[in-house]
Amino acid sequence: MQHKPVLLNEISNYLKPEPKSLLIDGTVGLGGHAATLLPRVLPGGRLLGIDRDAANLKRARERLSGFDSAVVLVHDSYANVRTHAYAHGFTHVDAILLDLGFSSVHVDDPGRGFSFQNDGPLDMRYDQSQPLTAGEIVNTWSEDELARIFRQYGEEVNARPFAHSIVRSRAQTPFTSTIQLAELIAGIKRQHGKTHPATKVFQALRIAVNDEFGELERALPECVNLLKPGGRLAIISFHSLEDRIIKQFFKSTPALKVVTKRPLSATREERLENPRARSAKLRVAEKVSPSSQPL
Ligand SMILES: C[S@@+](CC[C@H](N)C(=O)[O-])C[C@H]1O[C@@H](n2cnc3c(N)ncnc32)[C@H](O)[C@@H]1O
Repeated sequence: MQHKPVLLNEISNYLKPEPKSLLIDGTVGLGGHAATLLPRVLPGGRLLGIDRDAANLKRARERLSGFDSAVVLVHDSYANVRTHAYAHGFTHVDAILLDLGFSSVHVDDPGRGFSFQNDGPLDMRYDQSQPLTAGEIVNTWSEDELARIFRQYGEEVNARPFAHSIVRSRAQTPFTSTIQLAELIAGIKRQHGKTHPATKVFQALRIAVNDEFGELERALPECVNLLKPGGRLAIISFHSLEDRIIKQFFKSTPALKVVTKRPLSATREERLENPRARSAKLRVAEKVSPSSQPL
């Protein structure tokens, strides 16, 4: 399935791209949002796109090739946005977008190990050059650590029994595939409704492998520093804990004014058309000038 960019109209409306604007898309992915924003910053504007996933970045490069030197694409985590922004002249930027998490292509390609529906290696890395994989976590982390991530990142009520079974099972046969893990979980917890019993465990592993919350926490202050006064930061999240990190950061940062008092969700129409949009939440904040910041 082609990845559909979520909340595209809302992003365009809130980020207000115009000729000469400097934009940073910290999760450029397949270039969906970028392809819509870029024509609006021309002439004179530019976009810096960052992604941790080399395969997605390659697709973005093809899709955005017509924009020539108006686009700079970098393979890295958005947590390192400052280095790349400085290197390419993106200071005092007008808008920054983070569209967090995975893209449809990650789940659609069993070889990447994100899916419990199709067999694949226990991988789940966005950046395939990093050493830590889901397999390493499942096979080597302690029962306590596994239970912690299942509870904290997956909000899984059976975190402890799942962790216990994994540790017992791996002593006989180490885990190598996604289905092997999904079947172990399904053997402990019966499926209720449409959701597979391993959904939350897989989500927790993905977040842990990619240190998703840590990367976000590191990136947020860097983004604020790069914005010019009046510049906007828009973040789309898909997880309640992620949304909480963003909400609290926006509220507690004197240099920011919250633009969206409540997070925006996709319209009914978009949710029907794109299941991924159902859990998307968008928060937007604006950088205030130093003189108008509360002391
Ligand atoms: C939801 S997709 C973005 C889709 C994109 N907005 C589009 O319209 O095509 C999220 C992307 O963020 C990337 N990603 C996840 N964590 C990242 C990080 N810490 N730094 C940079 N990219 C990251 C993933 O590889 C994925 O391509």
